[in-house]
Amino acid sequence: MKQKAILAFSGGLDTSVVVKYLQENHDMDVVTVTVDVGQGDDYKKISAKAKRLGVKKHYNIDAKKEFVTNFIFPSIKANALYQKKYCLATALARPLIAQKVLDIAKKEKVTALSHGCSGKGNDQVRFDVTMRSGSNLPIIAPIRDLNLDRITELKFAKKHGIKIDTVAKKFSIDQNLWGRAIEGGILEDPFKEPPSDVFIWVKTKNLPSKPSYVEIKFEKGIPVAVDGKSKNPVQLIEYLNKKAGAAGVGIVDHIEDRVVGIKSREVYETPAATCLIEAHSDLEKMVHTKHQTKFKSLVDDEWSWLVYSGLWQDPLKSDLDSFIDQSQNYVSGTVKLKMYKGSLRVVGRKSKYSLYSKDIATYGKGSTFDQKLAKGFVELWGLQSTEANKLQKKR
Ligand code: ARG
Repeated sequence: MKQKAILAFSGGLDTSVVVKYLQENHDMDVVTVTVDVGQGDDYKKISAKAKRLGVKKHYNIDAKKEFVTNFIFPSIKANALYQKKYCLATALARPLIAQKVLDIAKKEKVTALSHGCSGKGNDQVRFDVTMRSGSNLPIIAPIRDLNLDRITELKFAKKHGIKIDTVAKKFSIDQNLWGRAIEGGILEDPFKEPPSDVFIWVKTKNLPSKPSYVEIKFEKGIPVAVDGKSKNPVQLIEYLNKKAGAAGVGIVDHIEDRVVGIKSREVYETPAATCLIEAHSDLEKMVHTKHQTKFKSLVDDEWSWLVYSGLWQDPLKSDLDSFIDQSQNYVSGTVKLKMYKGSLRVVGRKSKYSLYSKDIATYGKGSTFDQKLAKGFVELWGLQSTEANKLQKKR
């Protein structure tokens, strides 16, 4: 009997090449799975493309709601920004896509798992680790195994009559509800400003002359309403991507350390993520004690690092989730953001659990804070530092 491989299929260059490779070089039947995490592709076209490539069966799985609820929302609670910049859009989607592939792999009784990741990126780690956590089947990753580069792939695609759209010829793009990652081509010169045609979600020209405002309401760390209207998880993210993108908000351009050690220049469009993480972390500072704020940022960094590094499955990640969930009990309230020509600023926040007290903080009359008490406190607070300084100056 012919061997059968299952492949996470996006319809792009890499995964199209992989289908042909599995069929020709491995003499395998191929089952393809496209998981909709909000990349906004035309799923009819993708399944037609899969059919044209001669796959035995193609699946489209709508996982948008699951993606937001089980992956994006936990990342908001963790204020997750890898290296303080990247909201983990791709990193969050990979474990979910791999899990969906595994589910169908069982049903289809395949003999191998496959993906289109290269050996230079992080996605191979995320796919492999999730797949390994749920199956012992061999993993075939032809782009990695054959050390293929994009030029060779494009040639291979041409030879096999695989159509590749013009953007994919210029850049490597991955997108979902949480963000759009653009790599490669001219962006590989880290000193070159990305040309404006790189951006699709975020407006970079003719920006509105007036600022726009957005109000985000959180309950226990999760966004539940925007601009006074309750929205379901998927709609909420879509709404913010549109609104903040139109105000020019959400472009990230930084140097990123990949798991495999490569430094890469990464460009992202992440309007909703930028707003939500900014708003959420601001609200946390209003309701958490300074001790909670200081410690949680360590936990947040560790969480982001694990998820980036493909270790979604590690027990430490769920240990941290328990801590983070517990910390969200009082993270309820509303944050007001102002967006203007690409800038974003928190301009207001309120919460019924606010630890901010005007009575205590006010510089005006009638503060309940007794300044006289501060004198002794400051003396003791600085004790070691002042003693050390005196001693060292004497020497
Ligand atoms: N650097 C980001 C990450 O590792 C984005 C990767 C995007 N993937 C791609 N195939 N273009 O999560």
